[in-house]
Amino acid sequence: AHQRDIRNFSIVAHIDHGKSTLADRILEMTDTVAKRDMQDQILDNMDLERERGITIKLNAVELTYDAKDGRTYEFHLIDTPGHVDFSYEVSRSLAACEGAVLVVDAAQGVEAQTLANVYLAIDDNLEILPVINKIDLPSAEPEKVRKEIEDVIGIDASDAVMASAKKGIGIEDLLEQIVNKVPAPDGDLEAPLRALIFDSIYDDYRGVVLSVRLFEGTVKPGDKIRLMNSGAEYEVTEVGVNSPKPIKRDQLIAGEVGYITASIKDIEDTRVGDTVTNAANPAEKALPGYREMAPMVYAGLYPTDNAKYQDLREALEKLKLNDAALEFEPETSQALGFGFRCGFLGMLHMDVVQERLEREFNLDLITTAPSVTYHANLADGTVKEVENPSEMPDVAAIKTIEEPYVKATIMTPNDYVGAVMELCQRKRGQFVTMEYLDDYRVNVIYKMPLSEIIFDFFDKLKSSTKGYASLDYELDGYRESDLVKIDILLNGDKVDALSFISHRQFAEKRGRDIAVKLKNIIPRQNFEIPIQAAIGAKIIARTTIKAYRKDVTARIHTGDPDRRAKLLEKQKRGKERMKSVGTVDIPQEAFMAVLQTD
Ligand code: GTP
Repeated sequence: AHQRDIRNFSIVAHIDHGKSTLADRILEMTDTVAKRDMQDQILDNMDLERERGITIKLNAVELTYDAKDGRTYEFHLIDTPGHVDFSYEVSRSLAACEGAVLVVDAAQGVEAQTLANVYLAIDDNLEILPVINKIDLPSAEPEKVRKEIEDVIGIDASDAVMASAKKGIGIEDLLEQIVNKVPAPDGDLEAPLRALIFDSIYDDYRGVVLSVRLFEGTVKPGDKIRLMNSGAEYEVTEVGVNSPKPIKRDQLIAGEVGYITASIKDIEDTRVGDTVTNAANPAEKALPGYREMAPMVYAGLYPTDNAKYQDLREALEKLKLNDAALEFEPETSQALGFGFRCGFLGMLHMDVVQERLEREFNLDLITTAPSVTYHANLADGTVKEVENPSEMPDVAAIKTIEEPYVKATIMTPNDYVGAVMELCQRKRGQFVTMEYLDDYRVNVIYKMPLSEIIFDFFDKLKSSTKGYASLDYELDGYRESDLVKIDILLNGDKVDALSFISHRQFAEKRGRDIAVKLKNIIPRQNFEIPIQAAIGAKIIARTTIKAYRKDVTARIHTGDPDRRAKLLEKQKRGKERMKSVGTVDIPQEAFMAVLQTD
């Protein structure tokens, strides 16, 4: 294709506003996918995405559009996730585009992630095309939303596309706007190759598949390429585009989005954000690349079967190619053996990583309770970064402990301001300010400990505002807090993987709550198991798991054989997810017990 006929754009939105459905309609309208192959949310091709109904990964496809001006255009569409934990995927997608389609739900209006995502696009100087979606809903208020986009975001929405992705309304209007408003890419075709790696995935047969946006030059099979950051060189075996199935091409040119394979087996050589150049005629400077993401939460990941440690390492390395925000380093736990301390952008991210490791790499894992990074200021003047609560130094050695704070922006209808403030206060929040966006909506801003916000804050926020409030947050430095480490002892032995950090004010109550919870979660064995919670040498709570009396299945021996089989099966599966610690079997649930507060 000629550069003037190429259009590169992302679709961004708050979660559930209809991006993936809109992408479906665009693929249909442009006959990219044959009718018989069409299915809902076709770009959400991971099972996990389809089951949960959310987009986790960015997804780039090429499609051709016969426009009203009589020309045929080559579109590269990148669908992106809406959830805050995956905003790194959004920022990487935007760097590959000239335009962004901003989808706003006509009934919900602008929400926290609408703002966060559109600001990313504005920062990247992209042309923004607002689409007001779901106009078919009885509760839709498109004119109000149009005004909101102008007042709150500050962009012109007079031409906003009025759409229903569900009913297929407004799609052609949008496609025409993409042709007429999104600038065609430029970039010197004769210059040395510069291609930005915005994603990658490991394929057992082809090696690493690089998703790239070419900014200058061209690339074709047989070319010798160099990854500028790592210096590694390879010979290109294939170039192509996804549509949405991979289609080979003779070459890719500046302005295009596509993939490159080069039998790259050395995973460490590839990094998202790196620049691909031509080894024989290299570019002088790499492209700017991406800002590194700092993980917000850390948790230990351990194979239930200790022999699977190497498998877990390989799986993490391969997954990281496709999930640039994932971080990991080896760690050992007395209780759990060899595993990895992993860094995540949030709880959903952590959940998704565990599920992908188990499904895509066939592993059974135990995850420990997530924790933030604390700074322990020691008596000797040094600072220790503590990502794992069990590594918190002895009380005697610590002068003060600091914890990360965030600036949280909560967008809520007027009526729920009281409920939101009450919740923030309860989570140790400090009120900053309140901004009225219009007559009925408010931005409530608080500074709060990250540890209070990552776990169940979002669920609590949703339930106390009937689902209307939305949340965005950014790190806001470290502050001193009165924190203590609580250890859990089973059968008199400290279980390092169950230690957690709490504000002193809540320490005793949480110690008691958790002891009781563990009592209910850990299965009875043929001896008594005392459970204790302790701060240093001081025991703050204790309970006991009684010894069991009889086989659980004994009672239903005469009952339905199907049911008995199912129960046994369930017990077996539950057991796989257990870790023997000393003489006690601890199920996965126990490690998460510390999270369920209140
Ligand atoms: P994430 O990928 O998870 O961020 O969500 P999304 O923005 O891609 O939303 P998705 O396309 O999955 O749509 C969310 C829900 O809204 C689905 O149940 C869709 O069927 C529904 N939906 C999407 N577009 C429309 C529309 O135009 N009208 C109506 N009534 N429902 C729609």
